[in-house]
Amino acid sequence: NVPLEIAWTIVPAGIAITMFAWGAVLYFNMRTPPTRTMEINVLGKQWMWKLQHPSGKSEINELHVPLGQPVKLKMISEDVIHSFYVPAFRVKMDVLPGRYTYTWFTPSKVGEYHLFCAEYCGTDHSGMRGRVVVLEPAAYANWLRGDTGEPPEVVGQRLFEQFRCHTCHTNQENARCPPLTGIFGRQVVLRDGQVVEADESYLRESILNPNAKIVAGYQPVMPTFQGQIGEEGIMQIIAYLKTLGPQETAAPPNPNTTPPTDEAQP
Ligand code: CUA
Repeated sequence: NVPLEIAWTIVPAGIAITMFAWGAVLYFNMRTPPTRTMEINVLGKQWMWKLQHPSGKSEINELHVPLGQPVKLKMISEDVIHSFYVPAFRVKMDVLPGRYTYTWFTPSKVGEYHLFCAEYCGTDHSGMRGRVVVLEPAAYANWLRGDTGEPPEVVGQRLFEQFRCHTCHTNQENARCPPLTGIFGRQVVLRDGQVVEADESYLRESILNPNAKIVAGYQPVMPTFQGQIGEEGIMQIIAYLKTLGPQETAAPPNPNTTPPTDEAQP
């Protein structure tokens, strides 16, 4: 019976596609943080959580966040795989060595909540826990005061100079290394013609394994900083690189493009 065959193929296919589309929209909404998030750096190591606020204040095994403020966690591990788990927030994300992972949440109720490591990571895995404290915004501002450390980008700039990065990345036209002004988020053309986005993972890889992606027009002259700088320092350098201004001020003039003409004029 052809009409029957067609009907029981089309109808379930339609239902399945609807469920897939609905689920996909929900998934993308869940994974995409809102635009005005507060970004917290999370470092997992055997056996503790180290967290740093944008102001520079650090905490260990404790995370204080203001009520109603979307919080984005940028996470990486110094050693083995951990997992950042706050059951009350329905938030669980693996924290991996060698790769940034992200998660976000918006605290909606003042209180204290459990924080666990949800990936077996060695002897003291069960002790690798802490708490998330949600405060009223005023109380959070008050808590932030006091012995605030240096903001990550300030430490990052110091490291950038300490490791002598600025002697090669001079931002001048004939420099031996690519200019870094406005680097974050820019499209970078590599020697093999590939185009990649200079996101956090790219910057991190370029510090630890500079020869993995060589920018077009440059030689592989940069030494690796593997073993010389910890994950925390790398996050701080990336925070500094992000402050290096927008793209317009960065790129050296490209001789192949004509200057823009004002097309609004008749
Ligand atoms: Cu860290 Cu389990």
